[in-house]
Amino acid sequence: MPVHSISPAALKRALSGGETEQIRSWCAALEAGGVLYFPETPLPISADDLDTLLGQQQTESKLHKNIAYKPKSDELTGVDAKTSPGASVHQVHDVMRRYSQTVERFLTRFLAPYRQRWVLDYASYRPLEEKGRDLALRRRNDLLHTDAFPTRPTRGWRILRFFQNINPTRTRDWVVGEPFSNVVGSFAPGKLAMPRADNILARGGKQLATATGLAKLVPQWKRTPYDEFMMQLHNAMKEDTEFQDTCAKEYVEFAPGSSWMVYTETVPHAVLAGQYALEQTFLVDPAALVTPESAPVAVLEKMAGARLV
Ligand code: SIN
Ligand code: FE
Repeated sequence: MPVHSISPAALKRALSGGETEQIRSWCAALEAGGVLYFPETPLPISADDLDTLLGQQQTESKLHKNIAYKPKSDELTGVDAKTSPGASVHQVHDVMRRYSQTVERFLTRFLAPYRQRWVLDYASYRPLEEKGRDLALRRRNDLLHTDAFPTRPTRGWRILRFFQNINPTRTRDWVVGEPFSNVVGSFAPGKLAMPRADNILARGGKQLATATGLAKLVPQWKRTPYDEFMMQLHNAMKEDTEFQDTCAKEYVEFAPGSSWMVYTETVPHAVLAGQYALEQTFLVDPAALVTPESAPVAVLEKMAGARLV
């Protein structure tokens, strides 16, 4: 714990030999708060695509942290038109579409036990140097945090992210914290109120998700007590200097040309340094897990003794 390294040979064996036990144990490790690490990415990017991405000169802007690709609408946002000639915007769009499709195809095989019970969410390209970025506290990614979407509640669906360090020479440097149940125990109850079913409804969580795919799959896509708690936990972690300084953590360096995946809504993580990473997000149905009892919605509902979604 928390990093499980998967060599190309082990991956090949598991995928070709139908090693369902191995795959299920990787899923269980992921669900328990581990990082699945592929020192050599199973999804190498072509030299042309790499050139296109490394050529992007993003300016640090409060509006656009990253370049985002929305697979459902095939939309690209965040490319700086001032610094990117028109042709290059199209090229980036093509590269992001390809990356998104490639990751989904790979995870359909690798995460076979899930049987695609997920929604393909946004992909992103992170071209800025992470060290020394000047961001507002709640937007900082160099502080340990669990992910929560301020405007797009997941109603208990899990946030799974597949990353790729496309920097040809430099590592991407992370810090990873303790399993969710430990972390949540050090915040609630105490620093943070336990989630309560009435909490949220009172706050009028009528916010509908803009992601049409999600809305279709899960009608009445609004903020639930679960989402409210997860958002507050994200903020509380970043604002707590004592937690940041004293919590159990591990430093991890992701090699150039490597990939990794992690449930970022439960595994506390921070990026300290690195530049040029790709990422694809999946929202996974908690009922699809190999260990459904490990889902944060299950953990919190047990603690609260109430339904939270
Ligand atoms: C984050 O999700 O907090 C940032 C991770 C990264 O870009 O490496
Ligand atoms: Fe994050």
